[in-house]
Amino acid sequence: MIVTVASFKGGVGKSTTAIHIAAFLATKRGKTVLADGDSNRSVMSWVERGGDAVPFTVCDGDSIPDDYDYLVIDTAARPTDDELTALAETSDLLVIPCTPTTFSLEATIGTLATLPTDRYKILLTVVPPKPSREGEKAQIALSKFELPVFKTMIRRFTAYLKAENSGVPVSQVRDPKATEAWADYEAVGKEILKAVKK
Ligand SMILES: Nc1ncnc2c1ncn2[C@@H]1O[C@H](COP(=O)(O)OP(=O)(O)OP(=O)(O)O)[C@@H](O)[C@H]1O
Ligand SMILES: [Mg+2]
Repeated sequence: MIVTVASFKGGVGKSTTAIHIAAFLATKRGKTVLADGDSNRSVMSWVERGGDAVPFTVCDGDSIPDDYDYLVIDTAARPTDDELTALAETSDLLVIPCTPTTFSLEATIGTLATLPTDRYKILLTVVPPKPSREGEKAQIALSKFELPVFKTMIRRFTAYLKAENSGVPVSQVRDPKATEAWADYEAVGKEILKAVKK
């Protein structure tokens, strides 16, 4: 199974999402590989900081082994239409992180129009905590355009910054909100397994 994470804007939580989806899939039976397809190598350096702490194998996007059960690919921001189509064709599902901000939403809505809706799902990320309703409003806006969106939203937590600094998934950081943060990605992982099984 191949899951590719791509987005039209930088800094929307692509690498964070790729790492946590890989961490979730690694809890299932099977070998999980996370491929870093971004030239800034943020996934590779994240994982290097943590030493052997991650439960999956990390490799360069150019040297992916073929003995995986689950392959998660992190990509560089701003793919062209052709690149996006190619990514969609080679993946079981494209996960498109998008923050609930006007710029990010506009970039996402504008670019996805060319892709068949069964190839991808938009994941709202870095969603501000309640009482903010920005996440829900973004979900409604995307649904109006009939774009597929994950039910689960990834909330904004400082635990992710700790995770990034220590080079581990958020499930392994010491933070009062770490369990809640990990629960978001676990729920996304379950949605992915359900979407791909269909
Ligand atoms: N849910 C979240 N809550 C709080 N901070 C987050 C969350 N998701 C990601 N971040 C932080 O936001 C920053 C950008 O995230 P990340 O590197 O995953 O984005 P990206 O889309 O891969 O960026 P780039 O386009 O540079 O590759 C990082 O510092 C990360 O720790
Ligand atoms: Mg990145």
